[in-house]
Order: sequence, then structure tokens, then C-alpha cells
Amino acid sequence: MEFNDVLATRQAVRDYKDEDVTEEQLQAVLDAGKSAPVGMGEFGKFKINVVTNPIYLSFIQRAASKRFGRDEMLYGAPVFIFVSAAGDDDPMAHASAATIVENMVLEAYNQGLGACHIWGVTGALAQDPDTCEKIGLIEDQIPLGGLVVGVPYQKLEKRPMQERIEVNFFR
Ligand SMILES: Cc1cc2nc3c(=O)[nH]c(=O)nc-3n(C[C@H](O)[C@H](O)[C@H](O)COP(=O)(O)O)c2cc1C
Repeated sequence: MEFNDVLATRQAVRDYKDEDVTEEQLQAVLDAGKSAPVGMGEFGKFKINVVTNPIYLSFIQRAASKRFGRDEMLYGAPVFIFVSAAGDDDPMAHASAATIVENMVLEAYNQGLGACHIWGVTGALAQDPDTCEKIGLIEDQIPLGGLVVGVPYQKLEKRPMQERIEVNFFR
């Protein structure tokens, strides 16, 4: 897909078909994540964790429900990916994680899939060591940001470029 079409098609998808993402699509999304820049070039600090096991997805959803009192915070997506860093949740680590996540979100649209940044669930997971242990997250890894990926329920239409963030020029 053309880059501008990816930008125009991207939107937070919160309704997914009960359909798997193909291995090729998933790999393309992960490759985009692995190609992202991170602050100070500290690539070794970060991990991309891919959750597709429905039981683990339900553990994670349960951790989020406990924290926020809401169900369906992963929107029925078959894949939840979260970025974690070793023992570090400083602002730059968060910024790097968000950058890795956004690369994956954009590639998901390039693959004809839908995606949504998932910060709430990731934060709930970060504060729930039992659930981290249950899904086998490597000890000392702190979840910092995530996304869901899947086949969108509705056909995604391109949107005009958005004018939602004000720009200040200092010329
Ligand atoms: C850093 C970040 C965290 C987000 N976390 C969540 C989240 O936890 N759950 C959710 O449903 N949407 C989440 N979103 C999606 C935003 O709500 C959404 O992108 C925004 O409302 C704009 O809508 P659009 O993506 O359709 O343009 C997040 C987006 C960003 C960039």
C-alpha cells in the first residue's frame, strides 16, 4: 500500500472478526517493530512479546478487568503484542516502546489488517506480577506499550488527513 494510504486508513479498530492473522502478516508486523528506532540505540533493552494463546489472552483481559472494571479491552482481537523493557520504565523507554508499537500498527494496516494501540491493558499487566508470571513473561521485563491486531469487522475506509492536533510555528 502507498504510505499515504496507510496513514489515511489507520484508525483505532475496536471490533475484530473471529479470524486468525496469517503467519506472513504477523511476521511483517513484527519485522516493522524490530526495525523501529529506540532512544540511545538501546535495542537490547526491549522485547516484543506476542500473545496469541486464547488462555493467556483471557488472563490478560482478566488483569485489565480487575483494574478498570471493564471487559473486552482487547476487543476480541486474536493477537495482543506488547513491548517491554528490562527493569526500566523511564520516559524515554516509554517513548521508545510507543515508537515500536506505532511501527507495528502502521504495518498492520499495510497488511490490510486493523490494529489499535493498547495502553490501558498494558499498564494493568505491568502492575500485575501474577499475570506476568502466568503468561511466562521474562522476569524483570516491564510492559510499556502494546497493540491488538486482527481482521477488522468492518471494511476500513480511507479518511481525509486529520486536523486534530494544533501546530504552532516559530518562524
Ligand atoms: C499511546 C496510545 C495509547 C492508546 N491506548 C488505548 C487503549 O488502551 N485502548 C483503546 O481502546 N485505545 C487506545 N488508543 C487509541 C486512541 O484512543 C485512538 O488512537 C484515538 O482516539 C484516535 O482515534 P484514531 O486512532 O481512530 O484516529 C491509544 C492510542 C495511543 C496513541
